[in-house]
Amino acid sequence: MARVTASAYTSHVPAIGAALDHGRTHEPYWQKVFGGYEFSKDWLQANRPDVVFLVYNDHANAFSLEIIPTFAIGTAAEFAIADEGWGPRPVPKVIGHPELAAHIAQSVIQEDFDLTIVNRMDVDHGLTVPLSLLCGQPQAWPFRVIPFAVNVVQYPVPSGRRCFQLGQAIRRAVESYDEPLRVQVWGTGGMSHQLQGPRAGLINREWDNRFLDRLIADPAGLAQLPHIEYVREAGSEGIELVMWLIARGAMGDVAGGPAPRVAHRFYHVPASNTAVGHLILENAN
Ligand code: DHB
Ligand code: FE
Repeated sequence: MARVTASAYTSHVPAIGAALDHGRTHEPYWQKVFGGYEFSKDWLQANRPDVVFLVYNDHANAFSLEIIPTFAIGTAAEFAIADEGWGPRPVPKVIGHPELAAHIAQSVIQEDFDLTIVNRMDVDHGLTVPLSLLCGQPQAWPFRVIPFAVNVVQYPVPSGRRCFQLGQAIRRAVESYDEPLRVQVWGTGGMSHQLQGPRAGLINREWDNRFLDRLIADPAGLAQLPHIEYVREAGSEGIELVMWLIARGAMGDVAGGPAPRVAHRFYHVPASNTAVGHLILENAN
């Protein structure tokens, strides 16, 4: 059977992608960011997944305000690269896993989570920056990716509680797939940042670090936080952090297994206008 072997969490700041693509990673400003991912690249080589179930949010590249799915699963064989701002990044296209994606859709929808099935979807920095941070700049991505887009842009957005429950259903779906695949679930976005209005530039180190502590040790409690707390404490775009609860819900301890091992933890301010957070948790299988 397939297994969820680990989960990884990271910010997806678009300026990080631009720094990589324009060869600026060795500048002192960016070294402090990329330095936090050196361990992760080695770790990923040593703990190579077959498939990454990558939870991210689209920034009006695949979905405009005309159609806003709350949870969208990418079931296509491949996904083209798109972006606003700096434009589409010069990175490899993303190869999907239609069979596993269809199985997860079947299982999770049967468990009453109403996913939108997307057979064609371009992917933006929300998905490509995490891939670059953990894989570097390969000719082709070294594993298949199931893109899972969550609406955290247009209210009403899903609650942390709903995301955490969905992660648990995704784990059950993966573990009922009849092929011995190693699957990682990644949660992306965050940490504290606000890109608009009078509070633009807001960063809250203390809150971010408490979020990381609780994500590790008290995810069920953390899942109870209301939206207003994310927005008040972590800024309007800090709401992206609810996506991390999907990945956390997919870990074995939530289903009664042993606590995960913290393989890596990193926090840094600033990257562009945001705080950068990153965590890797391994399931004790
Ligand atoms: C920026 C955009 C994002 O989507 C994000 O998550 C963080 C920062 C930006 O434009 O700086
Ligand atoms: Fe974002």
